[in-house]
Amino acid sequence: MLKDLPLAKVYQFIEPGPVVLLTTQAAKEKPDVMAMSWHMMLEFEPPLIACVVSADNHSFKALRKYRECVIAIPPAELAETVTGIGNCTGADTDKFGVYELTPLPAKHVAAPLIGEAIVNLECKVRDTRMVNAYNLFVVECVQAWQNPKLKDARTIHHHGYGDFAVDGEMIHIKSKMR
Ligand SMILES: Cc1cc2nc3c(=O)[nH]c(=O)nc-3n(C[C@H](O)[C@H](O)[C@H](O)COP(=O)(O)O)c2cc1C
Repeated sequence: MLKDLPLAKVYQFIEPGPVVLLTTQAAKEKPDVMAMSWHMMLEFEPPLIACVVSADNHSFKALRKYRECVIAIPPAELAETVTGIGNCTGADTDKFGVYELTPLPAKHVAAPLIGEAIVNLECKVRDTRMVNAYNLFVVECVQAWQNPKLKDARTIHHHGYGDFAVDGEMIHIKSKMR
């Protein structure tokens, strides 16, 4: 017998991974960083990524004003840090300081890369038409960096309320889909 699933829980099943960190840099402020799991790929190359950044977040203002960010993919070892970052605000907290993340200069954007991340994506906002309706920014990745020391690191995938799946076993199936 199938059971009714409350609509408020739908996201816990369909949410894509991995949980990422999104950094922004506003003039005369310390860099900010937030956790984000509501994102999706829109195009291969140039890579376009749709990001839902709540208008209540401090990051929202910098993203809308400066139209730049870095999307950093953290390893599973940083799960507690990621959760902490997603549970406080840059409006009153220096998150890079409190969570001891290493900000590194990016090449094309003012927002910092994160030294501890598996991959860092420097992004420019390309489309804001859905921001007012859905807080949805379409960003283009203009430069990507990989940390060779974290080549085999696992990512975390959000299932809601502090539950995360850690990326697991890889299988390979012959496929035409790239
Ligand atoms: C695992 C996790 C995933 C999150 N995903 C999102 C998201 O996709 N979009 C969003 O707006 N906030 C998301 N949040 C909440 C923000 O990270 C949180 O509101 C953060 O405090 C915003 O920081 P800021 O005010 O410094 O921008 C998430 C939080 C956690 C813990």
